[in-house]
Amino acid sequence: MKISKENIIIDENPLIREKSKAVDMPLSAEDKAILNDLYTYVFNSTIEEIAKSENLQPAVGISAIQIGIPKKLMAVVLKDEEGKEVVRYALANPKIISHSIEDAYLASGEGCLSVPDEHQGYVYRHARIKIKAYDLFSDKEIIIKAKDYLAIVLQHEMDHFNGILYYDRINKDNPFYADPQAICIE
Ligand code: NI
Repeated sequence: MKISKENIIIDENPLIREKSKAVDMPLSAEDKAILNDLYTYVFNSTIEEIAKSENLQPAVGISAIQIGIPKKLMAVVLKDEEGKEVVRYALANPKIISHSIEDAYLASGEGCLSVPDEHQGYVYRHARIKIKAYDLFSDKEIIIKAKDYLAIVLQHEMDHFNGILYYDRINKDNPFYADPQAICIE
């Protein structure tokens, strides 16, 4: 399935709150195809010409529930300033196995393909995480050690498995409260 704006569900759709289920291993052909579609969306979404012609909103990550599929499948792609891919994951059943006590947040806040309205404020997450997951590109179970921006992105995508959106984590009374113990990522 080719993913575009038409098949991404947004937060007014109650399905976005549904909990995703772990997928069976070894991965079925169907689940591999979903991972491929998720990855392709994220990869293409930051290429201007493709994004324009295919109506893609730029993203660094996407989870299967965002196309209405409640399965623990997600893709993350980070590129450098020249557009070269520096991180690519297409993960099944990712699970945090350990994390730092320290928290971190993005100075610019977060955004989400499924959240059309802007919600300003800091979103606190673990500064460093270790994840166990099956990765489509390595075709095996891998351990990911992530910090900074990548750690934030992975946790944002895994939150989708629990029906959690980034703004659920913003302090309602003081959205820009800057915890001095936490790392601010510029
Ligand atoms: Ni999101």
